[in-house]
Amino acid sequence: MKGWVIIVCGVAAVGKTLFSLKLAEKLGVEFIDLPNLVKEMKLYEYYDEASREYVVDFRKVSSKLGSILKGKKTIIASVNPFKPRGIPVRLVIVLRLRPDILMRRLIEKGYPEWKVAENMLAEIVDKPLYDTVRKFGRRKVIQIDVSEKNIDELVEEFYSVYVSSNLESLNAKVDWINELEKTDAYSEILQFLAKYG
Ligand SMILES: Nc1ncnc2c1ncn2[C@@H]1O[C@H](COP(=O)(O)OP(=O)(O)OP(=O)(O)O)[C@@H](O)[C@H]1O
Ligand SMILES: [Mg+2]
Repeated sequence: MKGWVIIVCGVAAVGKTLFSLKLAEKLGVEFIDLPNLVKEMKLYEYYDEASREYVVDFRKVSSKLGSILKGKKTIIASVNPFKPRGIPVRLVIVLRLRPDILMRRLIEKGYPEWKVAENMLAEIVDKPLYDTVRKFGRRKVIQIDVSEKNIDELVEEFYSVYVSSNLESLNAKVDWINELEKTDAYSEILQFLAKYG
């Protein structure tokens, strides 16, 4: 049996784990949360105290996943895009979240302010899109705007366009600066980000 992966990317707390888990259930395929796997299998280089994160060794991740995913169909949730060695990447889904909602969610999750700002800036400058397109090419990447959307409805919506090969209809054109300018939160967000810019 020929295996493949779908990789779900995005900045912290956009909903990668939840979306991937539910999509894997819906498609009847395996699910892997990369941060967990990295810890369990020690696929990191070291733990960085300053950023409070494991620094991932993507060569190890690529080779390990290449062997454990052989012949399987899997949805992988990961902040950073990567290629499992020898396994076809069917699609890369980038989840996008309006930065004011992202800000609230990261603060709720107890992230330190500088990390809230770091993730918001990455989201505002389209870093997840840039990184995934650079690695996989534009045709493999689809963006989904998850702002103010119910996760079960999002999965259903994705499933229907996926099975009808109509993914482009879901592909979001994201312009957060333009969206934020319309909200009351804009100047507050700029002031917050300026502290860490
Ligand atoms: N569409 C949504 N609407 C409301 N809340 C959501 C939605 N998606 C995710 N959440 C909530 O946001 C939080 C983060 O979700 P999740 O852990 O899936 O994100 P993640 O991208 O995997 O985060 P991390 O980068 O930390 O692994 C959770 O508390 C989850 O319940
Ligand atoms: Mg997660």
